[in-house]
Amino acid sequence: MVERRRLTNDGPLVQELEAQLAAYHGVHHCIALANAGLGLIMLMQIFSGGRQGEVVMPAFTFRGLPHFARWAGQQPRFADIDLNTQTLSPVAVEAAISERTTAILAVCNFNSPGDIDGLAEVAARHDLPLFFDSVYGVGTAYRGRRLGSFGRAEVFSLHATKLINGFEGGYVTTNDAPLARQLRYQRNFCYGAEGDCSADMLIGLNAKLNEPHAAMALLSLARIDETIGANGARFEEYATACAGIPGLRLLGHPVPDGEPRNYSLVVAELAPPWPLDRDLTLALLRAEGLAISAYYSPPLNRDWPDPPAHLPVTEILASRFLQLPAGHLVSRGDIEAIGALLRFLARHGPSIRAALAEERTP
Ligand SMILES: Cc1ncc(COP(=O)(O)O)c(C=O)c1O
Repeated sequence: MVERRRLTNDGPLVQELEAQLAAYHGVHHCIALANAGLGLIMLMQIFSGGRQGEVVMPAFTFRGLPHFARWAGQQPRFADIDLNTQTLSPVAVEAAISERTTAILAVCNFNSPGDIDGLAEVAARHDLPLFFDSVYGVGTAYRGRRLGSFGRAEVFSLHATKLINGFEGGYVTTNDAPLARQLRYQRNFCYGAEGDCSADMLIGLNAKLNEPHAAMALLSLARIDETIGANGARFEEYATACAGIPGLRLLGHPVPDGEPRNYSLVVAELAPPWPLDRDLTLALLRAEGLAISAYYSPPLNRDWPDPPAHLPVTEILASRFLQLPAGHLVSRGDIEAIGALLRFLARHGPSIRAALAEERTP
């Protein structure tokens, strides 16, 4: 890279990365970007055709999505999720569609890509573009096909916390050649764009990935199977450490449809007879030094109340999940200790609750 004196602007490492990622995802086009957020913004801008409207999306997801919609001149329109997959429900999406809708943004979760066929049917019926935030779907398959070529496009991240680590970065995959061409112009200030890529249609920006990030991502991509294998092994260790704890279930265990998953996150669902509410459980585990957080809570409609959304499943699920420590720095010993702590809480939860209530009584 240094010898070639080519650090950015669609260099050979970026092109190599795009070719390898397209092959990995089984798709014709991959457009590398500075991050996934920009990919989502660009797609929403293209799909809107410059019209201010609404993008239907879940509220049980990553906090950035409504912000990205606003950058693209769109309002988030939240639709409810399915109880089992925790992804957009096609029935709820259909109910959220109006004449203002410009696109449907579905999110593939780490444990489930969701009902892609059901969503595609709704999108086709209303002649709307369907696209996916597949940031947590690397390596995941739907009906035997790896994610990357579903809908009009899918968006992935190369952030340092993700399975393919480029320090920062992202990419869009698509089989739609005109869309790929538009994205390539758009990520480079729309330089030289003409026809359906003219400035009337597209708003350009600098969303290019550079060579150092592409080099890092290529190394990480070369180890993707090893990384997913190690995640899967740790997930099994969690399953053993948590086996039989009443009221606690690991999401995605066992994989319901038998399709490959990436096990990038470990999320526990707490429901009766689990004896403590999720936030108290979280506080107790944090007090024990665990790096642990709630999973997609609070739901995004709390911060984006307009237009109001009725999301009963989202509200229930947002109060149930704990994201447990994951990644290669978590050892088997850590997982056993976490399992033991959870088992302790399950057994002593009622007396902990009683002791806390007594402490709070003046
Ligand atoms: C589901 C989801 N979508 C999009 C993003 C944005 O990715 P990036 O940091 O590459 O912009 C993230 C980041 O964590 C995410 O979790």
